Amino acid sequence: MEILYLSRQDVEGLEISMKEVIEVVDQGFRLKGLGKTEMPPKPGIHTRPHAFIHAMPAFVKEMEVAGLKWVSGYPSNPERGLPYITGLLILNATETGIPIAVMDCGWITAMRTGASAGISAKYLARKESRVAGILGCGVQARTSLRALVETLPGLSRVQCYDLFPEASRRFIAEMGRMFPALQMEHSKNPDEMMEGADVVVTAIPIATEPKPPLRAGMLKEGGLAISLDYDSAWTGQAMKECDKFVSDDIHQLLSTKEEGTYFGTVPENIYADLGDLAAGFKPGREDPMERIFSMNMGIAVDDMVTAKLVYERAREKGAGVRLPL
Ligand SMILES: NC(=O)c1ccc[n+]([C@@H]2O[C@H](COP(=O)([O-])OP(=O)(O)OC[C@H]3O[C@@H](n4cnc5c(N)ncnc54)[C@H](O)[C@@H]3O)[C@@H](O)[C@H]2O)c1
Repeated sequence: MEILYLSRQDVEGLEISMKEVIEVVDQGFRLKGLGKTEMPPKPGIHTRPHAFIHAMPAFVKEMEVAGLKWVSGYPSNPERGLPYITGLLILNATETGIPIAVMDCGWITAMRTGASAGISAKYLARKESRVAGILGCGVQARTSLRALVETLPGLSRVQCYDLFPEASRRFIAEMGRMFPALQMEHSKNPDEMMEGADVVVTAIPIATEPKPPLRAGMLKEGGLAISLDYDSAWTGQAMKECDKFVSDDIHQLLSTKEEGTYFGTVPENIYADLGDLAAGFKPGREDPMERIFSMNMGIAVDDMVTAKLVYERAREKGAGVRLPL
């Protein structure tokens, strides 16, 4: 028995596009909405304050993919020149359960997280959205912007704020080269970033005792807020002020909330899962003036469907190293 080992470089070298990742993640949400996935809420261990190592298993029937992501987030890593998010993903054969691949999950996590933001925008943003706001100009913000460009064709301006102005300037330089038609603006503070923003993506470190910089009244009517950082960026009042509150997995949100550290301030009334929208069970945006909040915690279904794409492309291209099990 052998496994295919794929390093980060191997995975990135496959040059899979954001469009392809959005397609499989959207399909994963649809199958989740149809009840064709198995995905228990993620357990975690915490070796340092504010840090986590999470186990994320999922099986996506029909797409015949099963596996586990073992992913960590350490907010102090960037100071050491290390990535905040690192980890490994194992794929298992769905027929025998035998491991078939082990791969780095940094690229997969970033791409599927960005894709989920793009998919939230597809169902929940006003179609004519023009201005995006970005809070926290790191790895997930980059892939989120790439996905927003795919799902919001009218996007023309991006307002960026980061606690460290040089991070926002690097983001602007890099993303500006990738999308020369976008007008990229450095905002002096979160208030300026929010001005006129139709869609706002927040991707700052998740904090156990957050001091959210975004308050009620800041999201404009008709706006969409996409949170990739749990309840770290928006106050409870700001979330409650929204007409619809959506999540990528209500079950996971409620079980995380029950543990007592996060989501103490999210609204009681959760409108839908992204899976319900992708499967067509509930409408997304119904009114141009609605304020909508999408809490995208990141789910293992997104990882597995992306990992399957990676695995199949790697086999086609002969990438990676075969190792004995
Ligand atoms: N929802 C998901 O699926 C998912 C997946 C991966 C990561 N995440 C989360 O996304 C967040 C960002 O992860 P990343 O990999 O992009 O990290 P990163 O370190 O690459 O980027 C975070 C950025 O936020 C900036 N920042 C820190 N505090 C800030 C503040 N108060 N205001 C504005 N900017 C601030 C940092 O300077 C940095 O540029 C983390 O909370 C991570 O846990 C979510």
